[in-house]
Amino acid sequence: MYDIKTFNAIAPEGLARFNEENFMIDQTETPAGIILRSQKLHDYSFPESVLGVARAGAGTNNIPVQKCTEEGIVVFNTPGANANAVKELVMACLLLSVRPILKGSNWVQTLSGPNIEEQAEAEKKQFAGTELEGKKLGIIGLGAIGAMLANDAYRLGMEVTGYDPYVSVDTAWSISRRVKRAQSMEEVLATCDFISIHVPLTENTHHLIGAEQLKKMKETAVLLNFARGELVDTEAVLAAIQAGEIGNFITDFADERLLNNEKILVLPHLGASTEEAEINCAKMAAKTLKVFLETGTIKRS
Ligand code: MLT
Repeated sequence: MYDIKTFNAIAPEGLARFNEENFMIDQTETPAGIILRSQKLHDYSFPESVLGVARAGAGTNNIPVQKCTEEGIVVFNTPGANANAVKELVMACLLLSVRPILKGSNWVQTLSGPNIEEQAEAEKKQFAGTELEGKKLGIIGLGAIGAMLANDAYRLGMEVTGYDPYVSVDTAWSISRRVKRAQSMEEVLATCDFISIHVPLTENTHHLIGAEQLKKMKETAVLLNFARGELVDTEAVLAAIQAGEIGNFITDFADERLLNNEKILVLPHLGASTEEAEINCAKMAAKTLKVFLETGTIKRS
């Protein structure tokens, strides 16, 4: 029988607040379980005592899942625990993509003198935008984040089309009547003004969006990637933007090649970076691991 206070967590910098919840993280040489945030475990030799690895987050691509399976170690994640944070950031970026908020705000900072308000009024036309209402949002991947995004975008008045061949029954209910289900990814690419990707990175989804897919999009399309950088072929996106095949690219994954391009917005993987998401993921990871170590089953509450 393992108590949550007596298993080890590797490099728990993302779980610091977790200690305040009385889930103490104890460093021992014979951990029964490992909780981790974004540390890469590919070169890590798992002590024989380890039975389970819990990723406090959605993606498990920083864990050698195959190796763990071969060694009899169970790997699990915290699906949905940070979905709201990611969804809110995507919504913010959708709004940013139609209203030049950053440009307008930076420009105001350059003004001076007693009549700033008049200057601003006189020049503001250059920062006019468009609206999301009535525009088409395509969501590739209708998991926890994709489904939440679909519902919020619908409430904003967007027409939402989703593509996912493996939608759960719960999700299907939660988005029914609000989201048109596309029969193929190509349908989403060809018809939507904004396309947001929410699928895990696997061998099959690496470069899911490449030159061929980009050519199918509208010339004004805005592509958003808040899932994993490798889902999108960076060189192909750069070429598509250069050739005017798509409008803009917004990504949460920093890459030197994407910098200094006014059609590209790059963020430093901020999707799940909220206080609430960190706590939700930490709690779910620890509780799931505790139940697993105590009962041998994976049950999320
Ligand atoms: C996740 O896998 O949960 C997200 O990418 C967020 C993160 O890891 O920071």
